[in-house]
Amino acid sequence: MKRIEHHFNYLEYDSREELSSDDNNLVERASVISKQAYAPYSLFNVGAALRLEDGNIVVGNNQENVAYPSGLCAERVALFYAKSQFPDLRIKEIAITASSDKFTINQPITPCGACRQALLEYENNQGQNIKIILGSDQSEKVLVINSVKNLLPLSFEEVKLKNQ
Ligand code: THU
Repeated sequence: MKRIEHHFNYLEYDSREELSSDDNNLVERASVISKQAYAPYSLFNVGAALRLEDGNIVVGNNQENVAYPSGLCAERVALFYAKSQFPDLRIKEIAITASSDKFTINQPITPCGACRQALLEYENNQGQNIKIILGSDQSEKVLVINSVKNLLPLSFEEVKLKNQ
């Protein structure tokens, strides 16, 4: 019997300062917009900033609702706005950060499954990797993932909907 070991990679940096200035700037944009999140129930503020291929930056934050499932994560707010306004522009990268006045968040945020799936849809559609940068306001640590495929391993694929 043959065994194949597969690996999924990401990079961990001690400090945001180790990122390029463009990447560092994108994390800062995510951090700034997180402060305007509408998160009265969780008090967990998330910001997302994505850079399009023409250099435009689109930002978003989480929007909650008293009927909890009606709210939406920051990543999908930014993603859906970007693709509704600029459907033909590829997404180069997305930075995501979290902050709270109520409790300490000292680890980089790691996106929920639904947001990973939404990101993957656009990466597959555009045929070019989306880089993901994960940070938090109360920690210098950042994680960098070079493709959504490394963020959502073993994902469901369109090819499964056809004869194989
Ligand atoms: N949230 C995000 O916006 N992005 C994530 O990656 C994880 C969670 C939001 C949803 C909800 O408003 C709050 O954070 C707590 O789950």
